[in-house]
Amino acid sequence: MADAAQSRAGAGGETILRVRGLVKRFDGRAVLDGIDMEVGPGETLVIMGGSGCGKSTLLRCLIGSIKPDAGSIEMFGRDLCKQSEAGLDELRKQFGILFQSGALYNSMTVGENVALPLREHTSLDEGTIETIVKIKLEQVALREHADKFPGQLSGGMKKRAGLARAMVLDPKILFYDEPSAGLDPVTGAEIDRLIVDLCKGLGVASIVVTHEMDSAFTIADRMLMLDKGRVLRVAERGWFEKLRGMPEVESAGLAEGERIIRQFLRGDATGPLTERRGGSSYAEDLLEP
Ligand SMILES: Nc1ncnc2c1ncn2[C@@H]1O[C@H](COP(=O)(O)OP(=O)(O)OP(=O)(O)O)[C@@H](O)[C@H]1O
Ligand SMILES: [Mg+2]
Repeated sequence: MADAAQSRAGAGGETILRVRGLVKRFDGRAVLDGIDMEVGPGETLVIMGGSGCGKSTLLRCLIGSIKPDAGSIEMFGRDLCKQSEAGLDELRKQFGILFQSGALYNSMTVGENVALPLREHTSLDEGTIETIVKIKLEQVALREHADKFPGQLSGGMKKRAGLARAMVLDPKILFYDEPSAGLDPVTGAEIDRLIVDLCKGLGVASIVVTHEMDSAFTIADRMLMLDKGRVLRVAERGWFEKLRGMPEVESAGLAEGERIIRQFLRGDATGPLTERRGGSSYAEDLLEP
């Protein structure tokens, strides 16, 4: 398949995030093995890959919650890996994070949860905080539910409340880990719509880890496929769309990497991903002393 532009859409402009040669090892094993990637303002990059390929580890490195063993992560022109705790805190004010569960505090109301970053990181007065919280809750259609506790919300509402909290400091970049996982298709599509609206309407860049292919194809400007700790391919969404729609007969001539991506995108039960799982023989393993 013809090579597609690997550089980010709108290259030439400012880069919000630039990762070079990122390596992360656990117990001597490289889970991330030389990752290069970048994201521009207002751009949505979707990160995909099989279970255990390192997506959450990559996200955790990008938000500074774990330290890589090698490489650099430049955010807003500053190297994340070289920051002190205070420097990291300063950078963190400029990015929002939406964890899988929404990660709300159960003992606080929705409004208090959303207000928390403002109380922790700014010296705004209570009246201003209340107004900002109302605006953010309105953006995720939860203004009427400000006084409810997380336990009184549905899964989709929790995600939206988490999103309002992630956005409350007006970040330039948002990180999402599986934003639509566990939601019904309609609620999942609503979250996708919110991500797109935020990204395009407010110019917030987004990095989204997801397994949901419909969601990925709805929100992505570019997509990045991770495999065995490496970037197998990063390209514009259209490149991946073309590969997903490619008929079986045409796909025979594809390179191994492209066949892997095609199988993943289509969720096919057979293909190079399943073939390579072979591993050691079960019988041999049982008989081993
Ligand atoms: N703190 C840790 N200590 C040791 N190994 C870890 C640690 N965190 C992750 N790993 C290992 O790193 C690999 C990648 O894990 P990671 O959670 O990044 O995968 P993932 O791509 O997010 O998978 P999934 O799609 O299932 O969420 C796995 O083999 C995992 O066991
Ligand atoms: Mg994960």
